[in-house]
Amino acid sequence: MKLRFGQSTCARNRQTRSKSRVLHFAAVVLPALSGIVLPGCERNVSSKPTGTPVTIATPLGLPTVPIPVHNPVTADAIALGRKLFYDRRLSNQSTLSCASCHLPSHDFSDPHRISLGFHGAHGTRHAPTLFNAAYLPSQFWDGRAASLEAQVIGPAFNPVEMDNTAQGVVANLEKDPEYPALFQKVFGTPDITIERVENAIASYERTLLSGNSAFDRYEFGGEKTALTAQQIRGLAIFRDPNRGNCAACHTINAHYALFTDGKFHNIGEGVDDEGKFDDTGRFDRTHLASDTGAFETPTLRDIAETGPYMHDGRLKTLDAVIQYYAGQGNSNPFLDKEIKKIHLSAQDRGDLVAFLKSLTGNTPLDEKPAPERAVHP
Ligand code: HEC
Ligand code: HEC
Repeated sequence: MKLRFGQSTCARNRQTRSKSRVLHFAAVVLPALSGIVLPGCERNVSSKPTGTPVTIATPLGLPTVPIPVHNPVTADAIALGRKLFYDRRLSNQSTLSCASCHLPSHDFSDPHRISLGFHGAHGTRHAPTLFNAAYLPSQFWDGRAASLEAQVIGPAFNPVEMDNTAQGVVANLEKDPEYPALFQKVFGTPDITIERVENAIASYERTLLSGNSAFDRYEFGGEKTALTAQQIRGLAIFRDPNRGNCAACHTINAHYALFTDGKFHNIGEGVDDEGKFDDTGRFDRTHLASDTGAFETPTLRDIAETGPYMHDGRLKTLDAVIQYYAGQGNSNPFLDKEIKKIHLSAQDRGDLVAFLKSLTGNTPLDEKPAPERAVHP
């Protein structure tokens, strides 16, 4: 039997939502989105965009963007997702939009160590950049969401408290004279449902790409003058297993570079002097001792623009990050074997930082990530 898309995902969402107790900040600040009775589910409303799928143009240095079959990207879906991303009515008291913590002016990351308004179970984490999140095998520092769709409103909720508010947000959006027509354009009918909101925002997120940096032009574009001599030295240290060993986790492939292996590692960050973890990270999801204090390797794209650094935003500058690695992190029983004792001279450290600054990309114009950030210099 062929299930209609709306049916199967509604069932999927209900199940995952009631199972987990962890709250994504979005479940906290955007509680209105997180009902157990998902508006639209009852009516079997399809959440698959109906228009002609588009190819997302990828800048130099990035592979093709993976797109799930159930949520093809269309121009109208991207436009709707973009509008929703900047719409404060998604939050409980219309105070926050996605862009309040993923600031386009801060490369879709948050200049605050911990996002304001984040009071969830994991209110100790820094909001990562959304650039190239489209490629991640799982979302969040602990990987608790399997896809961008599942991540939008968080995989887990407190259904009892939030049920009414889910209806509320849909009602909010329905009141807007523009939304029903926009939903109709994307999905074929004017129904506004949480699933449709998820799918549209995920499509927009897939267009937030950063590539064509000086590094890409040097490495993949054959432009040998794109990097300075210092940056070229930094790149060599970054790659060399016996020097920086950075690429062991922040990977560079033959034809593209995501600067993440999409895996979880304990690099010792966030462990106190007594070996205690403020945040056990991936362990919360898997309950495997070996995952204690492990976090998903973040991309290093646009890294010079997205501080402060690490899951807890503890390190303020790139110099501090390099100092940290040079000191081999904080030792603890779960430290990744790739975090070796490395010897970096003062010059090596400066070279590495200079190299990291070459990873600031430029976003293709036609993707229009945000009004104030059409081009990245
Ligand atoms: C109150 C601040 C805040 C708001 C509002 C917010 N986020 Fe986030 N976001 C965060 C934080 C903090 C994290 C990291 C949480 C974690 O890993 O546990 C995060 C993580 C993410 C990730 C995972 C990225 C990665 O590299 O793993 C995505 C994608 C994301 N948010 C998208 C969104 C979208 C879409 C919205 C709007 C529906 C949104 N966020 C609203 C703070 C916020
Ligand atoms: C064992 C895998 C591994 C190796 C090797 C590694 N990293 Fe990381 N890196 C990670 C993980 C995992 C995080 C996130 C850790 C956390 O937040 O607790 C991270 C975080 C970072 C960050 C902060 C990113 C952000 O968005 O906050 C930078 C910068 C960084 N690494 C650069 C480097 C450099 C430079 C090297 C080489 C000297 C290196 N890394 C070696 C896995 C690794």
